[in-house]
Amino acid sequence: HDPKTPQYNTGDPTSFAFVSARDRWPVIITQGIDDVHRSAGASKDEQVLNEGKWVVAELARLKYELQHDRELTPLVDDGESDVEEYNKELEALGNPKWHAVPWLFSECYLYRRVSSIFKQTQKWKSYDLFARQKMSTFQSSRSAVVELAVRYKEIVTELELKHTVKGAKTQKELEEAEKILFMEMCEICLWGNATDLSLLTNLSYEDIQKLQGSEARKLSEKNIVVNDLGKAFKVLTDALKSGVKERRVDIVLDNAGFELFVDLILAGYLLAAGLATTVVLHPKSIPWFVSDVLPQDFAALISALADPQALYSTLSDEDKDAGKKVVPLSDSEVLALKFLFEHWSGLHAEGQLVLRPNIFWTAGGSFWRLPKSEPSLHEDLKESELVIFKGDLNYRKLTADAAWPATTPFTEAIGPLGPGSGVRVLALRTCKADVVVGLPEGEDEKLKNLEGGGGDSGSRKWAWSGKWAVVQFSDGKL
Ligand code: F6P
Ligand code: MG
Repeated sequence: HDPKTPQYNTGDPTSFAFVSARDRWPVIITQGIDDVHRSAGASKDEQVLNEGKWVVAELARLKYELQHDRELTPLVDDGESDVEEYNKELEALGNPKWHAVPWLFSECYLYRRVSSIFKQTQKWKSYDLFARQKMSTFQSSRSAVVELAVRYKEIVTELELKHTVKGAKTQKELEEAEKILFMEMCEICLWGNATDLSLLTNLSYEDIQKLQGSEARKLSEKNIVVNDLGKAFKVLTDALKSGVKERRVDIVLDNAGFELFVDLILAGYLLAAGLATTVVLHPKSIPWFVSDVLPQDFAALISALADPQALYSTLSDEDKDAGKKVVPLSDSEVLALKFLFEHWSGLHAEGQLVLRPNIFWTAGGSFWRLPKSEPSLHEDLKESELVIFKGDLNYRKLTADAAWPATTPFTEAIGPLGPGSGVRVLALRTCKADVVVGLPEGEDEKLKNLEGGGGDSGSRKWAWSGKWAVVQFSDGKL
């Protein structure tokens, strides 16, 4: 249940895997070490301090092994059920070394190995070494958050109270407006992924703000190389019209902070518009690819919105150094953010917005393995009208991170999750890695020929920066 096409490998100098293993991962581990150091230093508990020192030493050892191209060592038994699976894979790969190993597996192993260090302690078991970074980037996206909140309050209030969209007079106009809103919400949700922390991308928060409003959205649509949103909208409206009472949409989450915020904007919109009756969110169970959502990130985001003024009452060190002052939110901004808090916590309390973790999401293999290795999760996803996979890593996992020709149909590249799987897949992905499928003939070459696109170097550089995106759909119920 893996594809025959070879996977991207850290030994291939033309792949982003090569740069990742050599340049990015050591930096990520170093940042983790700094974070643990800081937290340990702030504690007066002897055991916290001692274990903190041990964690730092273990992280440093991992970094050493990575930088000196040592073998990936078997995970120690930290009590979790996935240890065996990870270790079997290492064996099957012939005990590979860091600089010549399939990219997807080795990157998953890296985060699993880090989590295993913490799991071996008493006091640091559930510690998230990336939590600080996640919250601080959310705080720094204030202007985009506030603008979206104001807009969301307007839209949801109209939909819930008047069952219409502002300005729409007839049923046809309402349907048209709903489609535009759906596309807009999904595209905001898509570009929200450009802000993940594992890769400092080229898109600024100002760029993301610009994505609001259909004029600006049209402009950014040029960077969506394939866009199947219309098909996804049709599936949801058909289900609504068919009169089925329970209509579920799933979101396989990616990053915390601003991206989770926009995921919730989409979820809340789908529920308010009646395009779904339940939204199931799938977070990770261990700190993952730096910024991925853990259940506690969801809780932290909601509770931060309960007191918006407090959320923005502290400045980052950078802002302090730049001499910036705290600017309080206006009354209407506070109201809009509190509205989000009330709407989302209400939906959560009523069971319309559900969080459902599963250890499968942090396995070392691709989603090609889902039906065999986690049949109950597969069955569960079949219950959904639409399963939205957010972000780059989920896309790599859907396509098994294999070096497909770019024109390979998406439905083929996702293998067992394609047609006949019973799962409707919608990938919302800003491209931050080599694998891309489902492109029209000639498109890859065209993008390579743009400045910085990779040209004849053999590298698909255009797909590394998060500037371009693909939105691809597969109807597994066909
Ligand atoms: O390409 C860089 C990278 O860190 C990949 O390792 C990973 O697939 C991706 O970015 C993470 O991005 P996202 O949060 O969108 O999944
Ligand atoms: Mg991520």
